[in-house]
Amino acid sequence: MRITVMGTGYVGLVTGATFAAAGHDVACLDILPERVAALNAGECPIFEPGLPELLKAGLASEKLRGSGEMASEITEADLTFICVGTPSRNDGSIDLAQVESAAAAIGDALASGERKHVVVVKSTVLPRTTEDLVLPRVLERSGRDRASVGFAMNPEFLREGSAVADALQPDRIVIGAADGLARARLRLLYAGAECPVLECDPRTAEMVKYASNAFLAAKVSYTNEVANLCEAWGIDFATVAEGMGLDDRISPRFLRAGAGFGGSCFPKDVKALRTAAAAEKLPVAMLDATLVVNESQPLLLVAWARDALGSLKGKRIALLGLAFKPDTDDVREARAAVVARALLDADASVVGCDPQAAANFTALCDIKIAASAEAALDGADCAILMTEWPEYAALPPAVFAERMARPLVLDGRRALDAKALRNAGVEYRAIGLGGNK
Ligand code: UDX
Repeated sequence: MRITVMGTGYVGLVTGATFAAAGHDVACLDILPERVAALNAGECPIFEPGLPELLKAGLASEKLRGSGEMASEITEADLTFICVGTPSRNDGSIDLAQVESAAAAIGDALASGERKHVVVVKSTVLPRTTEDLVLPRVLERSGRDRASVGFAMNPEFLREGSAVADALQPDRIVIGAADGLARARLRLLYAGAECPVLECDPRTAEMVKYASNAFLAAKVSYTNEVANLCEAWGIDFATVAEGMGLDDRISPRFLRAGAGFGGSCFPKDVKALRTAAAAEKLPVAMLDATLVVNESQPLLLVAWARDALGSLKGKRIALLGLAFKPDTDDVREARAAVVARALLDADASVVGCDPQAAANFTALCDIKIAASAEAALDGADCAILMTEWPEYAALPPAVFAERMARPLVLDGRRALDAKALRNAGVEYRAIGLGGNK
């Protein structure tokens, strides 16, 4: 099939490269010529394991290309995927400006052709957006009738850091088609899928995405709340999680206690759902609680630093890891930023390190950056592990014991070896680890 993809962020690029790998003819569209040129030169604008290789393979096979020829690419394609961003506004509501302009651009392009076309929304949008915003906008701008343009919502479930694997081996596909044309083309596109395929209407597909992300976010907040109780009562939450996870109604996944969730999806999606529900006066106590726990959870680490050090003024605190999770350079809603800001407010001297995300982080928060974990730990009064990068988990205990002014380690991801650190004389405290005090 011939496919165009609007939006060259991580969802657009991964989606485009995956369809190209499956043998489809894919054009990733961008209005900026330099982005198109970079893509065609094989440059990957984001850090996403496996994506540079997938893009290069697509370009080499001539199944994938970047293009700025919006109108001709769309009119000649069978399907256009909208993969643009849907960020949060300051009040938590969803900003649909990019979706709206993508729909307008598709409409303008379709005005010049007659070939049947299907518009698929992959961006995360609130229920009814595909039917009430994208559909009318495309039809109005194209002057086409409903029979010649199909519409569907087909959510992505891509985790940053493993987006390529998630796209190549999805665990489910949701096709929310508004009409037979869209349903038929998406069935054909996903015909080879080896996972369950759920067919529904667009608003249900939109809700599946929100309900999934909000559930996982709630699971993390619930995990963290219970882990804090365990810590206080001398119970190791890791064993509790193991016991819970043996119940297949619960599943062992997403039961990792820590400093809370960040990233481009969970915080934004929970806020968007909450704001939309509030506008309709629907109670959303679970969503509220999910966010409340997630805001207070990282501050627990700052409270622990105070417990041990008293005033934080002038104390050198090392933050190990700044990305919202390992294997990404994304710092959006990173819990490290919540901790860093609280430490800076307390006049601490904050020095951070991260294998990928340091530059992105300093644009968010003005801390010192060390070139390595060792350099960050040199002379530190306290180290807080914020991102469980494998290289930090593998640091020998002696690095903490010998380099730090006071070997106090607070583990916000429960990734370090408690026994080995304590044996090396390190004061170690971790979220959910009973017997910390
Ligand atoms: C998420 C969804 O998983 C994905 O399906 C969706 O399409 C996009 O949003 P992502 O944000 O990339 O993906 O990361 P994910 O691996 O889900 O983790 C989200 C956050 O939760 C991270 O900050 C992570 O550290 C945290 N987390 C996750 C925990 O604290 N504990 C867990 O057990 C799992």
